[in-house]
Amino acid sequence: MVLAVFFAFLFQLGPGLEAQSKDPATVRQLKQGLRVYQLNCQTCHGREGDHPDKTFNLADKEWKHGDSMQEIEKTVKQGVKGTAMLGFANRLTDKQIASVARYVYSFREESDRK
Ligand code: HEC
Repeated sequence: MVLAVFFAFLFQLGPGLEAQSKDPATVRQLKQGLRVYQLNCQTCHGREGDHPDKTFNLADKEWKHGDSMQEIEKTVKQGVKGTAMLGFANRLTDKQIASVARYVYSFREESDRK
Protein backbone atom coordinates (compact mmCIF):
# COMPACT_ATOMS: atom_id res chain seq x y z
CA MET A 1 0.00 0.00 0.00
CA VAL A 2 2.68 2.47 1.04
CA LEU A 3 4.72 1.38 -1.97
CA ALA A 4 1.74 1.89 -4.25
CA VAL A 5 1.35 5.44 -2.98
CA PHE A 6 5.06 6.00 -3.44
CA PHE A 7 4.98 4.83 -7.04
CA ALA A 8 1.86 6.83 -7.74
CA PHE A 9 3.73 9.82 -6.40
CA LEU A 10 6.76 9.11 -8.58
CA PHE A 11 4.56 8.63 -11.60
CA GLN A 12 2.86 11.90 -10.90
CA LEU A 13 6.18 13.70 -10.73
CA GLY A 14 7.59 11.87 -13.74
CA PRO A 15 6.03 13.99 -16.46
CA GLY A 16 6.93 17.15 -14.53
CA LEU A 17 10.58 16.23 -14.46
CA GLU A 18 10.51 15.25 -18.10
CA ALA A 19 9.00 18.62 -18.97
CA GLN A 20 12.07 20.27 -17.44
CA SER A 21 14.44 18.60 -19.81
CA LYS A 22 14.23 16.60 -22.98
CA ASP A 23 17.68 15.14 -22.55
CA PRO A 24 17.23 11.54 -21.32
CA ALA A 25 20.48 11.59 -19.32
CA THR A 26 19.32 14.71 -17.46
CA VAL A 27 15.90 13.21 -16.83
CA ARG A 28 17.57 10.09 -15.42
CA GLN A 29 19.77 12.23 -13.20
CA LEU A 30 16.79 14.28 -11.99
CA LYS A 31 14.91 11.08 -11.14
CA GLN A 32 17.84 9.72 -9.14
CA GLY A 33 18.19 13.13 -7.50
CA LEU A 34 14.53 13.09 -6.53
CA ARG A 35 14.95 9.73 -4.80
CA VAL A 36 18.09 10.84 -2.96
CA TYR A 37 16.30 14.05 -1.98
CA GLN A 38 13.23 12.25 -0.64
CA LEU A 39 15.36 9.97 1.51
CA ASN A 40 17.93 12.48 2.79
CA CYS A 41 16.80 16.06 2.47
CA GLN A 42 13.02 16.35 2.37
CA THR A 43 12.54 16.19 6.15
CA CYS A 44 14.51 19.40 6.58
CA HIS A 45 13.92 21.24 3.32
CA GLY A 46 10.32 20.43 2.46
CA ARG A 47 8.84 18.39 -0.37
CA GLU A 48 10.02 20.68 -3.12
CA GLY A 49 12.53 22.76 -1.21
CA ASP A 50 9.54 24.85 -0.18
CA HIS A 51 9.96 24.72 3.58
CA PRO A 52 8.16 27.75 5.11
CA ASP A 53 11.16 28.63 7.28
CA LYS A 54 13.62 30.75 5.31
CA THR A 55 16.62 28.94 6.78
CA PHE A 56 15.50 25.65 5.24
CA ASN A 57 13.86 26.94 2.07
CA LEU A 58 15.68 26.08 -1.16
CA ALA A 59 13.14 27.56 -3.56
CA ASP A 60 12.97 31.22 -2.56
CA LYS A 61 15.73 32.50 -4.85
CA GLU A 62 17.87 33.27 -1.84
CA TRP A 63 21.08 31.30 -1.83
CA LYS A 64 23.37 31.99 1.04
CA HIS A 65 26.01 29.61 -0.28
CA GLY A 66 25.70 30.15 -4.01
CA ASP A 67 23.17 29.16 -6.64
CA SER A 68 25.37 27.49 -9.23
CA MET A 69 25.26 23.73 -9.58
CA GLN A 70 28.91 23.55 -8.42
CA GLU A 71 28.22 25.61 -5.31
CA ILE A 72 25.12 23.59 -4.42
CA GLU A 73 27.14 20.40 -4.88
CA LYS A 74 29.88 21.77 -2.65
CA THR A 75 27.39 22.75 0.10
CA VAL A 76 25.85 19.27 0.02
CA LYS A 77 29.27 17.62 0.17
CA GLN A 78 30.76 19.74 2.93
CA GLY A 79 27.69 20.92 4.79
CA VAL A 80 27.55 24.23 6.64
CA LYS A 81 29.62 24.26 9.81
CA GLY A 82 27.69 25.07 12.96
CA THR A 83 24.26 24.38 11.43
CA ALA A 84 22.01 21.35 11.02
CA MET A 85 23.25 21.08 7.44
CA LEU A 86 25.70 18.20 7.64
CA GLY A 87 28.12 17.26 4.92
CA PHE A 88 27.03 14.27 2.88
CA ALA A 89 30.46 13.37 1.48
CA ASN A 90 30.63 10.24 3.66
CA ARG A 91 26.98 9.32 3.36
CA LEU A 92 26.35 9.57 -0.37
CA THR A 93 28.37 8.70 -3.45
CA ASP A 94 29.66 11.49 -5.70
CA LYS A 95 27.11 10.42 -8.27
CA GLN A 96 24.26 10.69 -5.76
CA ILE A 97 25.48 14.11 -4.64
CA ALA A 98 25.71 15.32 -8.24
CA SER A 99 22.18 14.10 -8.97
CA VAL A 100 20.65 15.59 -5.83
CA ALA A 101 22.44 18.88 -6.58
CA ARG A 102 20.95 18.77 -10.06
CA TYR A 103 17.52 18.16 -8.57
CA VAL A 104 17.88 21.01 -6.03
CA TYR A 105 19.09 23.21 -8.88
CA SER A 106 15.78 22.51 -10.61
CA PHE A 107 14.01 24.33 -7.72
CA ARG A 108 16.04 27.34 -8.76
CA GLU A 109 14.90 26.99 -12.36
CA GLU A 110 11.31 26.67 -11.13
CA SER A 111 11.54 29.80 -8.99
CA ASP A 112 13.11 31.71 -11.89
CA ARG A 113 10.00 30.97 -13.89
CA LYS A 114 7.73 32.47 -11.23
C1 HEC B 1 18.92 18.05 9.53
C2 HEC B 1 18.38 19.00 8.59
C3 HEC B 1 18.94 19.04 7.18
C4 HEC B 1 19.08 18.00 6.29
C5 HEC B 1 18.74 16.54 6.49
C6 HEC B 1 19.58 18.59 5.07
N1 HEC B 1 19.76 19.93 5.22
FE1 HEC B 1 20.40 21.25 3.80
N2 HEC B 1 20.39 22.73 5.15
C7 HEC B 1 19.93 22.65 6.47
C8 HEC B 1 20.08 23.95 7.10
C9 HEC B 1 19.71 24.29 8.54
C10 HEC B 1 20.65 24.82 6.14
C11 HEC B 1 21.02 26.30 6.30
C12 HEC B 1 22.47 26.44 6.70
C13 HEC B 1 22.83 27.89 6.90
O1 HEC B 1 22.28 28.50 7.80
O2 HEC B 1 23.66 28.39 6.15
C14 HEC B 1 20.82 24.03 4.93
C15 HEC B 1 21.34 24.53 3.75
C16 HEC B 1 21.36 23.86 2.55
C17 HEC B 1 21.79 24.43 1.29
C18 HEC B 1 22.32 25.84 1.07
C19 HEC B 1 21.16 26.79 0.82
C20 HEC B 1 21.60 28.20 0.53
O3 HEC B 1 20.85 29.13 0.89
O4 HEC B 1 22.66 28.41 -0.06
C21 HEC B 1 21.64 23.45 0.34
C22 HEC B 1 21.92 23.58 -1.14
C23 HEC B 1 21.14 22.27 1.02
N3 HEC B 1 20.99 22.54 2.36
C24 HEC B 1 20.87 21.07 0.40
C25 HEC B 1 20.57 19.90 1.09
C26 HEC B 1 20.49 18.61 0.45
C27 HEC B 1 20.63 18.36 -1.04
C28 HEC B 1 20.23 17.70 1.44
C29 HEC B 1 20.12 16.20 1.30
C30 HEC B 1 21.21 15.50 0.69
C31 HEC B 1 20.13 18.44 2.69
N4 HEC B 1 20.36 19.76 2.43
C32 HEC B 1 19.83 17.87 3.91
C33 HEC B 1 19.42 21.52 7.06
C34 HEC B 1 19.39 20.25 6.50
